[in-house]
Amino acid sequence: MPIIFDKALQIFHLQNNQLSYIIGIEKEQYITHRYFGTRLSSYNSSNELQKIDRGFATNPIPENRQFSLNAWPMESSSQGTGDHRIPNYQIRNEQGQNVTDFQFTDYIIYQGKKPLQGLPSLRPERASTLELILEDPIQKLKMILVYTLYEDHPVITRNVRFENLNKASVYLENAGSLLLDFPRNNLDLVTLNGSHTNEANLHRQALYPGIQKIESSRGTSSPQHQPFLALVNRETTEFSGEVFAFHLVYSGNFVAQVEVEQYGSSRIQLGIQSDTFEWKLSSNEVFQTPEVIITYSNCGFNQMSQTFHEIYQKHLVPIPFSKKERPVLLNTWEANYFALSENTLLKQASLASELGIELFVLDDGWFGNRNDDNSSLGDWDVNFEKLPNGIEGLADKIHKMGMQFGLWFEPEMISKNSDLFRSHPDWALQVLNYPMTEGRRQLVLDLSKLEVQDYLIMQLNHYLSTEKVDYIKWDMNRHLTEIGNISLPADQQKEISHRYVLGLYRILDTVTKKYPKVLFENCSSGGGRFDPGMMAYMPQSWTSDNSDAFSRTIIQYGYSYLYPPIMMGAHVSDVPNHQVGRFTPLTTRGWIAMSGNLGYELDITKQTTEDLALIKQQIQFYKKHRKLLQFGTFYRLQAPSKTFASAWLFKNEEEALLLYFNGLAQPAVPLQYLTLHYLNDDALYQNSETGKCFSGSELNHAGILIPRLKGDFETLVYHWKKL
Ligand code: DGJ
Repeated sequence: MPIIFDKALQIFHLQNNQLSYIIGIEKEQYITHRYFGTRLSSYNSSNELQKIDRGFATNPIPENRQFSLNAWPMESSSQGTGDHRIPNYQIRNEQGQNVTDFQFTDYIIYQGKKPLQGLPSLRPERASTLELILEDPIQKLKMILVYTLYEDHPVITRNVRFENLNKASVYLENAGSLLLDFPRNNLDLVTLNGSHTNEANLHRQALYPGIQKIESSRGTSSPQHQPFLALVNRETTEFSGEVFAFHLVYSGNFVAQVEVEQYGSSRIQLGIQSDTFEWKLSSNEVFQTPEVIITYSNCGFNQMSQTFHEIYQKHLVPIPFSKKERPVLLNTWEANYFALSENTLLKQASLASELGIELFVLDDGWFGNRNDDNSSLGDWDVNFEKLPNGIEGLADKIHKMGMQFGLWFEPEMISKNSDLFRSHPDWALQVLNYPMTEGRRQLVLDLSKLEVQDYLIMQLNHYLSTEKVDYIKWDMNRHLTEIGNISLPADQQKEISHRYVLGLYRILDTVTKKYPKVLFENCSSGGGRFDPGMMAYMPQSWTSDNSDAFSRTIIQYGYSYLYPPIMMGAHVSDVPNHQVGRFTPLTTRGWIAMSGNLGYELDITKQTTEDLALIKQQIQFYKKHRKLLQFGTFYRLQAPSKTFASAWLFKNEEEALLLYFNGLAQPAVPLQYLTLHYLNDDALYQNSETGKCFSGSELNHAGILIPRLKGDFETLVYHWKKL
């Protein structure tokens, strides 16, 4: 069993081939953190706890002045009894008081992992779980800290369950998923931050005293911050060094924070954001927190990313899509926006099928009076003026052309100008006496309500049960405001943000299980809700509304820290680019889109013959190498530099593809050899263009000369067959 309890030492050791995580029980009731990092063959407490009678400290055991909750590394916080670290939970009782005293009482270890009630999580496979049970005997509350260790990956997941065994209710003012102490602070904090059309920019900064945090209170995980942080050694690079990474499986408000405390340790905490949360826990009820995925790498960021990529593909995305190749698609949005007509669409589709495109996606504009973005969300009836043969008629014609058919929805939204709003104004999130704030002229449906969830399931069912829709793009284009309703009593209003996410997960779970063959693509104005929670239902996501190839080298580079290329929707769009007005060569647009899940989003009927020939070639190349591009291992070789040059590599057992993007051309060309690092040293690689052979070790260590490239935004491509 990879989780052992050493009774004499009172130590739990979670251990696989790559990592160890060690927890101690002190004074029979306190749970301390003892170690997390590279695998230890055994543990005998060499790094004993620091026991000092500190000034200005409080002591839960009065006669033991060397023990203060505040100073020791703990696996959870305490409340109101002298522990001043960032709290992982806060509970208020009916008297309005905020003290609890959780003590360790028992543990269980078992094979596998229990599903998290109402929440997505990694599936277990060769995994074992430790549950540490803590109880507050005065208020009869239980707090269960849950750890699952994966045997084949350097991965542990953590979550917390709260149970109320009392007659009286309590209020969870904060219910975090993880707290963890590092006994040092000479570390860098790494996060991914951005905005709409500029997601997932990598940020790295040395830790400093006090709290550093990222969070979302927008109702979704947001394009502003990924629910992720990593602590890394100062010298860690893509290729070497230690990384301790944390990713929260949740799509709503979250916090990810680190506190560098007074004696030099660093404390990490992740979970639901507490300012926008409260939960009434009535007698005999249970509250389940989302899970955090923890991974450890001692080979830099590339290894961290590969761990995330692998476990997300294997253990998170819906099983039917775990190993399934994804079709090359044509999306109608940037080609037509709202100006849809069946005739034009069919012309585009027919050419698309000639070019080798496999999935035709009808984006926004096909329903109600949706001629711009001011109306009709909620009225999911086809607009027969635009599509006289309806969705089924159009889908039939697309299928006859040999392509799959996909449809855009924005289920969570309601336009004020819609029949749905006129008949159900109470279905939008709202607060008594206040106007409802619009965003893109739309309001948010109250997904915390069961009737709204059921209505949306019914609407999706209506289209999916025809079996004519093979793909759904699930969009979500604004954040939540006036988060309230009149159904829940006053003391439960702060539950609505979390109930919204639970409602969303219920809808997604129901629909994706009922239609397991339908491919769902996640979207929230691009990467506005690109998080592991959504990926548990939808195996790919539109990465950004910014389709400019050059911007995408930065955005996709950032997202690749956590998500494999197969999850990132990447489309070749027109020039000048619709978001930034930039001209980039079609070749480069192709290579960058092929570095994700390839699609096209431009009016192909308006392209030149030469460009169409090139598009055809791109699609042929992609299909031929789809196994490599969608399921190979992805390595970052060069982060976007001062001149925005960057490079990445795809590799599998048969072939390797290196893409180098030059960014801005330089007159004084620097001398640069790009070393590949990750080919098999002893294997021979043959360049597909020149036929020349090189050993993996030569390419890894001597590297290749980056030649002079004239012109901005050019791409160098090297493809090798492994002999
Ligand atoms: C935002 C998405 O990110 C776009 O791709 C497109 O689907 C529009 N919404 C449609 O309104």
